[in-house]
Amino acid sequence: MQYSVLKEKGWLEKEVDANLDLFTEIRKLKKEKNAIILAHYYQDSDIQDCADYIGDSLGLSQEAAKTNAAIIVFAGVHFMAETAKILSPSKKVLLPDLRAGCSLADSCPSEKFETFIKSHPEHIVISYVNCSAEVKALTDIVVTSSNAEKIVNSLAKNQKIIFAPDKNLGAWISKKTGRNMVLWNGACMVHELFSLGQLIRAKEKNPNALVIAHPECETEILEQADFTGSTTALLNFTIKNKAREFIVVTEAGILHQMQKASPEKTFIPAAPATNCACNDCPHMKLNTLEKLYVCLKYEQPEINMPVELMNRARKPIIKMLELSR
Ligand code: 13P
Ligand code: SF4
Repeated sequence: MQYSVLKEKGWLEKEVDANLDLFTEIRKLKKEKNAIILAHYYQDSDIQDCADYIGDSLGLSQEAAKTNAAIIVFAGVHFMAETAKILSPSKKVLLPDLRAGCSLADSCPSEKFETFIKSHPEHIVISYVNCSAEVKALTDIVVTSSNAEKIVNSLAKNQKIIFAPDKNLGAWISKKTGRNMVLWNGACMVHELFSLGQLIRAKEKNPNALVIAHPECETEILEQADFTGSTTALLNFTIKNKAREFIVVTEAGILHQMQKASPEKTFIPAAPATNCACNDCPHMKLNTLEKLYVCLKYEQPEINMPVELMNRARKPIIKMLELSR
């Protein structure tokens, strides 16, 4: 049956026989179709275990730009798959669930951003990769959490800067570089919910633990951190540092690789103010192993954009990749 018909009838999930060994089936399909699975650390651990490459936003875009595979299955969110398609337009780029968006990207609609840019003439536009292709097309240089400091530091001292869409990452970069930037008022729904009270209680309960945080967290949280960095930087810190316990203030999916790399160490996920599971990104977690299998089997849903939009959005991403070397 056609993928579109299955989708319409809501049969997609039912398509997966409960007796199938999805790990084996996915491995077979990957080989048969010359496909590669790129996964972000916030994906479900089963998906991470099927991936050919797991990384932060920078690593994932570098990988998407250089792969020889015919199909890229992006186990992440929509803006990440879009970035992969923009960098490899001749390849088929698939996203297991097209609804996997990003609250931060959604906080910056391109029409409003265009007006904002016009009201700040003479400013260079720096956008965090967590934004739509339309916003990238309005941007001078794209950055990720692992290269934003370096890229902002590379700009002339008198250069006026707009930084979008994450006000928390922007404030952190401002503090690190001493640059006064005009910030777009956007934020990530997951990182904004970490509670200072809960974090202080966790530190009291685990006095030997180091606090490590993603720069999408609010300033009051980052002030408590012993180390702040991108997901890959956080993972590498836990591998290299001699401490035995870490309180991890970012999406809880990253704990899978931390625990795998350092089974003898203890990783404590930081908690939001309530007992919700809000340190799980609801967008990232829309992808499941079943959807990944169906997506590879039917080569759907596919990411596509107008060529002209891709051409405009590619320039600031390429600039970022060049400045990150
Ligand atoms: P990283 O680039 O650090 O992996 O961050 C991506 C992201 O979406 C964090 O919420
Ligand atoms: Fe977007 Fe936040 Fe989810 Fe990252 S964790 S994908 S920034 S909503």
